[in-house]
Amino acid sequence: MKDIDKKTTVIVVTSGKGGVGKTILTLNLAGIYEKLGKKVLLLDFDFTGGNLALNMNLTPQKSIFNIYEDLVNNKFTDCKSYITKYSSFIDVVASPKDPRQARKIEIEYIESIINIFKQDYDVVLIDTQHGLHGTNIVALDAADVILYTITNSLMDLKNTKAFMQVLDDVDYLDKVKVVLNNSARPELNYFSVYDMKNLIKHNIDYTVSSNLYIRNFTKYVVEGKIFTLNKNLIFKDKKDLNKLNNMAKDLIK
Ligand SMILES: Nc1ncnc2c1ncn2[C@@H]1O[C@H](COP(=O)(O)OP(=O)(O)OP(=O)(O)O)[C@@H](O)[C@H]1O
Ligand SMILES: [Mg+2]
Repeated sequence: MKDIDKKTTVIVVTSGKGGVGKTILTLNLAGIYEKLGKKVLLLDFDFTGGNLALNMNLTPQKSIFNIYEDLVNNKFTDCKSYITKYSSFIDVVASPKDPRQARKIEIEYIESIINIFKQDYDVVLIDTQHGLHGTNIVALDAADVILYTITNSLMDLKNTKAFMQVLDDVDYLDKVKVVLNNSARPELNYFSVYDMKNLIKHNIDYTVSSNLYIRNFTKYVVEGKIFTLNKNLIFKDKKDLNKLNNMAKDLIK
């Protein structure tokens, strides 16, 4: 049950570049919130390449496209039938299976979908496709926190600078948290934190340690196991996982 006295926190996980670890980070956060006893909804807003459900080894019967279609045709009744359950704490709404369906979704409906679905949850985590496009703009608008994910790569950092300028123009900078994700590509370590901050013209609020890189990543994906819920995973240093836990807690303060 959702904690009825508390407001839902909507966290949008985004980036200026693909492959920076957004989806895995989103799942790891969901796992931490489950451990904190929070009801979590995962919304897969990566409409053309979304693989949240795949990473959870789920085969959803319905997707966000069905929600859109039913809303448009006045057939929408309740949220439950569109949700795929991962655990008693984590639900997911999948992205459309077919890119042709994705293209049909009108962005005017995105905000309503977030608002209709968020009511039963403590935390809504929205995974996105990178970049500033229609769906993301609506999601950023609905966000309480924009978790902007970067890696230590020049292309990524240059994109970030431009992205931050846009967020500044629309007055969203106060809800942006930048996370340097060293766990997706630990081999990227060219720039110092000082250089990175200078390049992106923004603070780096959190860092995910390269020690949280999972060597046999595919095995866990096949099994649909969220790392932060997996007791068999032993990380080199407990401090790294604790830092991620603290970041998760901080985001919902
Ligand atoms: N903690 C991790 N341990 C090992 N590999 C990881 C980890 N996080 C991410 N990766 C690697 O990075 C790849 C990209 O991660 P992920 O799919 O989360 O990024 P993304 O930003 O969501 O990508 P996209 O832009 O395609 O949606 C994964 O397929 C995996 O190979
Ligand atoms: Mg992704």
